[in-house]
This record gives sequence, C-alpha cells and structure tokens, in this order.
Amino acid sequence: MIRINDNYLKLKASYLFSDIAKRVTAHQQRHPDPAVIRLGIGDVTRALPEACIAAFHKAVDEMAADGSFRGYGPEQGYGFLREAIAANDFKARGADIHADEIFVSDGAKCDTGNIQEIFDNGARIAIPDPVYPVYLDTNVMAGRTGPYRNGRYDGIVYLDGHAENGFIPDLPREPVDLIYLCFPNNPTGATITADRLKAWVDYAAANKAIILYDAAYEAFIRDDSLPHSIYEIEGARQVAIEFRSFSKTAGFTGTRCAYTVVPTSLMAFTASGDAHSVHNLWSRRHSTKFNGVSYPVQRAAEAIYSDAGRRQAADLVGYYMANADLIRKEMQALGYPCIGGENSPYIWVSTGKESWAFFDMLLEKAGVVCTPGAGFGTCGEGYIRISAFNSHENVATAMTRIRCALKS
Ligand code: MLT
Repeated sequence: MIRINDNYLKLKASYLFSDIAKRVTAHQQRHPDPAVIRLGIGDVTRALPEACIAAFHKAVDEMAADGSFRGYGPEQGYGFLREAIAANDFKARGADIHADEIFVSDGAKCDTGNIQEIFDNGARIAIPDPVYPVYLDTNVMAGRTGPYRNGRYDGIVYLDGHAENGFIPDLPREPVDLIYLCFPNNPTGATITADRLKAWVDYAAANKAIILYDAAYEAFIRDDSLPHSIYEIEGARQVAIEFRSFSKTAGFTGTRCAYTVVPTSLMAFTASGDAHSVHNLWSRRHSTKFNGVSYPVQRAAEAIYSDAGRRQAADLVGYYMANADLIRKEMQALGYPCIGGENSPYIWVSTGKESWAFFDMLLEKAGVVCTPGAGFGTCGEGYIRISAFNSHENVATAMTRIRCALKS
C-alpha cells in the first residue's frame, strides 16, 4: 500500500494566496461590479523594462539559428549573468561575493522552499512570526514540526514580531541551527539596520547556525544607511545564504528569474562535527534537480545591469514606491498606524480588528483585496498587508473606495 507523506496532513488546507484567490472569485461571482482592485498578492503589473525586452528578443533570435542555438545551459546559470550579478549587486556595495558563488534559478520562492533539504531533519528552526508562509510550510512538509495547535506548529522556534520591537524579531533565547530572516520584510515592510543585522550574524557564528536571508525586496530600500545584502556585514560569508529575485525588482514575476548566493566559506556539520561545504551540497542538489533557467530569460535578466536597464528598473521601483507613499499616507490619515511602505512595497496596517474580518469588510464594501495579517502567523492578527503593486490609477481608486468604506 502506497503511503503518503503524513506531514502534508499537518498543513493548513490551502496556501494563503490560493485561499484569498478563492474568496475573491466567490465575491466577484456575487458582485461582478465594480471591478475588484487587487492589492493582495505582491504581483507586478507593469511591462518588463525595454532593455530586458530587447535582450529577450535578441536571444530568441539566436535560438532560431543553428549556429547560435543553445541547448542545456549550465545548471548554476550562464557566466555572463553570474558575473553581472557579482559585480553589480555585491562588489559595487563592498560585499565580497564571487560569480561562482551564485546559483541562478527560476524563483526565490522555490529556493527558499528547497534550501532546507540540505540540512538535517532534526535541525532546530527559527522562523519569524509574521512570516512569508513558504519558509514554514516547507519545513512542515519535510517533517521538522509536530502538529499545528493554536495557530502554531510544535517544534518551531517562533521569533515574534510586534509593534514594540518594530517587527524586527529579537535574538532567540534558546540555541537554534537555521534562522530565516527577510529584509525589507515581507509581509511587514520592516527594515533592519546594519548594527541589528550584525547581532544576528554574531549569534549565528557563536551557535554554528546558518541564516537564510531573503533579500528579494532590497531594490525598494531608499534609506542609504540600510544594508541591501547580509554580505555587507562582516562575518556573514561564514554564516549566511542570501536569496534574491528579479520578480519585483524588474517585473519578472511571470518571466521567472532569481538567484541564491551560497559562499564557498559557509560550512555545516555532520553529527560527529565534521565540516562540509554548504556550497557543494547546494550545487549537488541544484544540478540534480534543476536544469537551469532558459537562455533568453537569463539574457533578459543580464540586461537589467546595463545602463538603460538599471535606469528602467529603478523607474519601475520608483513607480510602485509612489503607490506605497500614497497608501501609507492615506491609511495613516484615516487613523490606522502603519509600518513599511518607506523602504518596501508592502504597508502593514494595524486595523484594531480581527484581520480576516477586516479583509472581508474591505472586499465587500470597497471591492479591494488586501492580505489578512493573520495569514502570515499569529502575530499578524489585527493587521492587514496592502501591496503597492498596481497602477497609480487603481491604487488611487482603491484608496478613495477604502476611505469611503472606512468612514461609512
Ligand atoms: C507576496 O505577495 O507575498 C509575494 O508576491 C509572494 C511571492 O513572491 O511568492
């Protein structure tokens, strides 16, 4: 008799954004007008930068001729893209990261979900609350948790975020082995200073732990004093893996291209204490289970680093950040305390109400989709997340509708 992986039965019935999509579809069937405005899942709405499109077209033409056609590429990504990433995203910011430490992939969601496979099933896992659900769910699937009780899984060390700590979790009071951090944060939009990040790097070094640092939203940082990469922090090469994505940075959510940095100096240990290169383990996993991102997509991603591409990607980010400014300003003017939205495309709003009820009310009365904070963990109860990814027109309309709904 074929048995299932029982750990899947511990998961909540559906993934947060699928759950929201179902509620929105049901609402639309009941009320086809006016059109729903989606400020829920962080999905970009604007076209790819022109520089990326030109590079994409050119690469497709290369695939059309036998002489320039490419078959399987290197699983870790083409050298041209890895070199551009190392030079622009790391060396230019004083971070010592080399092209051969970069693994190009089809998404930070997959990478942050898959990375746990190379660590022991008994590893003690620290996960923030609220959190992007992928980190938690993939550890549940792998069997690293007990059952789900009162909104939490047994066996996880939760790092609580709340208004008092500005949604930047404190260091764990007990030893942990694997720590998930995300800055600028999804869902709260909170950011971390270099000093606070250094405390995490030091904690990891002292505990022989590894930090899984999700920096998918670094391009939205406007405050020059904030670190964009954990490798700007001394000692991070020994304790951290970093995840980046072109999804929000350059509109690649549908095109799919991201990367993960695993420094060659990062070690993890066997039960008897022998050190092994995490880079080699991830390389082994990546080349076994992944066959690379397509050549045209990697050429399109490389174009982000051209002069024109850089300008156009910055314009895209600036466009969404103008939405973030408006959302934050409007919600604060309505008397709702907010964090985020200053160096991130997400605004985390304290509603003073149960967050799914607030979500339902906004959907019913304003026809606006947000994300209920409780979907990101128990510490998210009482909050909603509003995403800045939509057109200026839709965001302005959404805010007018929200104003009317909340004042009525
Ligand atoms: C979000 O809305 O949290 C993100 O778009 C989800 C993702 O990037 O997978």
